[in-house]
Amino acid sequence: MTDPKKPRLLRALAGETLERPPIWLMRQAGRSLPEYRALRSRAKDFIAFCHNPEMAAEATLQPMRRFPLDAAIVFADILLIPGALGQKVWFEVGEGPRLGELPDIARMAGEVEASTGRLSAIGETLERVRAELEPERALIGFAGAPWTVATYMIEGRGSDRSGARTYAYENPEKLDALLAVLVDATARYLVMQAKSGAQALKLFESWAEGLAEDVFERVVVGPHKAIVEKVRAAGVTTPFIGFPRGAGALVENYARSVPVEGVALDTQASAELGRRIQGQGKTIQGALDNLLLRAGGPAMDARVDGLLAQWGGGPYIFNLGHGVMPDTPVEHIARLVERVTGKPVRAVA
Ligand code: CP3
Repeated sequence: MTDPKKPRLLRALAGETLERPPIWLMRQAGRSLPEYRALRSRAKDFIAFCHNPEMAAEATLQPMRRFPLDAAIVFADILLIPGALGQKVWFEVGEGPRLGELPDIARMAGEVEASTGRLSAIGETLERVRAELEPERALIGFAGAPWTVATYMIEGRGSDRSGARTYAYENPEKLDALLAVLVDATARYLVMQAKSGAQALKLFESWAEGLAEDVFERVVVGPHKAIVEKVRAAGVTTPFIGFPRGAGALVENYARSVPVEGVALDTQASAELGRRIQGQGKTIQGALDNLLLRAGGPAMDARVDGLLAQWGGGPYIFNLGHGVMPDTPVEHIARLVERVTGKPVRAVA
């Protein structure tokens, strides 16, 4: 019936219920791994690292060598698109992202076509990783979703998003124009990633929380729908995972309205909510608390077993509800992956 060589992640996204779910972890590459910290220290800065295919491919593959994960996610960042559209982006050490003044939106609209070419290094990273990764392990491409990326572009940094929401109310036409530019640039970028070897595409809407239902429809559901439709119109059939983090009960509206194959859930999602989304014919992903992974121990084991029991009866991808914290002990990640896959993890360095 099914091709046993087909990566487990893609079988789950095609709607199969597997005897054990695939597992990968948001931010599986990164500062929790000593080999990443060593590699990172050789890069001039984080943005240059993301645009260096040799280094980015190595960072993507590091967690794959250490753990029997079912999928790799390309090493890049959601803030590469603003950079490609002409907004200055940099990372302050120990603080996080900073962005220069928001460029004129009409001017950015004129840069959309060229922006994809400025991100060609990420396509090269995907090609390199796909050439090295075993066929049973899938490669995920991603982009930030328009609203989340817009919050950084408007506020110039990570924030509580109150400035971006105020902007949405006070400058509705500008916000819609900015989202339209991001929809277009993001769709083109994801088409390029699919053509470069990405086998699943994830939209990170990290800041979907706190939005009223009508605003959620306008800034999250609408743009996500438009991106998937544009990618499909380009002839790309690669499955999508949408992650409206913090959307609460509105995640059900999202699952109903956005034609994604998978819906990623955050830490708060109830067992019942996840099952209802599976009942809508979608695959769900999530939602172990990243703080519980960091804490480890019997409480983590119990929650892992609980997640497998509550969602494993339908199409499910095991993951966290938010990315791996930099100070997470590697042994805890090893224990988690071992528990979900049943595969022994080599002693960690
Ligand atoms: O392993 C993976 O998940 C793939 C790589 C990846 C990174 N960022 C690498 C990264 C992915 C998928 C992202 C997505 C991303 N980037 C999001 C959405 C997911 C989320 O976490 O909510 C967001 C909001 C960003 C923006 C961003 N990038 C912030 C706020 C920061 C600073 C916080 C921090 O941890 O330093 C980054 C930097 C970043 N992106 C790092 C990594 C590995 C750390 C930078 C470093 O190593 O110097």
